[in-house]
Amino acid sequence: MLPLTLTIIVIEALLIAVLLRNRKRHKQTISSLRETLALLEQRLSARTDSWRQATDTLEQAEQRHRVTTALLNETKEYLNSIINSMPSIMIGVTPSSHVTHWNAAAELATGIREKQALGFRLHEIYPELPVTPAMIDEAIANSEPSTKESVKIEHLNSTRYVDITVYPLHSLELTGAVIRVDDVTLRQKLDSMMLQNEKLKSLGELAAGMAHEINNPLAAILQSLQNIQRRLNPELPGNKTAARALGVDMQVLHDYLEARDINRFLRGMESAGHRAAEIVRHMLEFSRSSSRQLEPTDVNYVAHASVEFMRSAIELSMPGLHARLVIEEDFDRSLPAIPASGAELQQVLVNLLKNAAQAMQEAGREKPLIRISTRLVPPFAEIRVEDNGIGMNLSTSRQIFDPFFTTKAVGQGTGLGLSISHFIISQRHHGRIEVSSTPGVGTTFILSLPLQQMSQSASR
Ligand SMILES: Nc1ncnc2c1ncn2[C@@H]1O[C@H](COP(=O)(O)OP(=O)(O)OP(=O)(O)O)[C@@H](O)[C@H]1O
Ligand SMILES: [Mg+2]
Repeated sequence: MLPLTLTIIVIEALLIAVLLRNRKRHKQTISSLRETLALLEQRLSARTDSWRQATDTLEQAEQRHRVTTALLNETKEYLNSIINSMPSIMIGVTPSSHVTHWNAAAELATGIREKQALGFRLHEIYPELPVTPAMIDEAIANSEPSTKESVKIEHLNSTRYVDITVYPLHSLELTGAVIRVDDVTLRQKLDSMMLQNEKLKSLGELAAGMAHEINNPLAAILQSLQNIQRRLNPELPGNKTAARALGVDMQVLHDYLEARDINRFLRGMESAGHRAAEIVRHMLEFSRSSSRQLEPTDVNYVAHASVEFMRSAIELSMPGLHARLVIEEDFDRSLPAIPASGAELQQVLVNLLKNAAQAMQEAGREKPLIRISTRLVPPFAEIRVEDNGIGMNLSTSRQIFDPFFTTKAVGQGTGLGLSISHFIISQRHHGRIEVSSTPGVGTTFILSLPLQQMSQSASR
């Protein structure tokens, strides 16, 4: 553009010069120069027009680009906020397992920020997640999602259950996978609670039918055993008379029974019989519980009565422990009367207190301590029974509500105490019974009883 303008200026200058020097002689030259000048001016204006057009087009293109970029950013933001507001963990990975996306739920569950995750290999930053590079490869190779259900993950000191799905990503520019992790701990808990209730219900029905059938022959066996023991007693006058009539020396007979361990066998039979009777009695409690009414009950009173009952029971059965045992009572006086069966509640608390005493005995504690407390935690009345006994590991605490689960020596526990307690609290009172325990430190049982029952059916 510049040379052309210059040329025009030069020509105009020349023209003026020529005009000035010799107007007449060079008239022809002037007119030809004028023509050239007009031509050049025409070309200049044409070029200026096309330059303006090009500038306009460029500006329009730039404008369109700006709008498209803004739209793209908006869409990206929108997609990100959708992914981030999902409760599922969403992790994008390349075929070589390098993280390309890490949503808010992933940050929350792992404590690992997006910046710390992006670009790293998944199993290096989150080894607890059981998604192997092979699983990602397989999903991509088969072009099909691969799924694992109810997988247990131990992370940040907590146990969760998750469903994991690896979705393959396939587009022209992109291969990789999206891993979706859903927390199903609550579902898992509900499933096992329902299973537990089913087990207890069928046990209750079974117990009701069986208990009477077993009780009668068992009573006959124990009665007969007692008779045999009495009739072999050399001290009783009736025995002496009968033996004398037959020419049998009662003392010799007694010595024989001792020498041949027959008395010991009889005592063994007797204690096994009593044990069987105790199991039947426990089983009967399942069926009996469902017929008692719920009525306004003072939880603090029941808790105190249970402690008093247990004090005397421990004094009799564990005198060594009784001498050192401290039972602390810490009751919330603002607790109102709640719909409950006092007898059943006492049965539960006695079970818990007995277990606590046994756990402290087993731990051989110098200062055995049980703390029983009540609190108003609307909409529940909460009762806690804490001990500094032997505690439980995770595998034990998962099974304690199962009927017949016991870690006690044969003949020491029926394994029914807590399953009956669970039944009474969850089925009869629509409450919760929970446990938290640390091996070697102690155990806390927490009972949550509704302050109000939803309907009359609750008391049936
Ligand atoms: N406070 C506790 N501390 C440690 N372990 C406990 C405690 N309470 C219960 N357990 C564990 O739970 C198991 C089941 O308890 P549960 O009361 O149902 O049966 P049990 O005590 O073994 O037998 P039973 O109650 O019939 O005498 C126990 O064997 C024990 O391993
Ligand atoms: Mg018990």
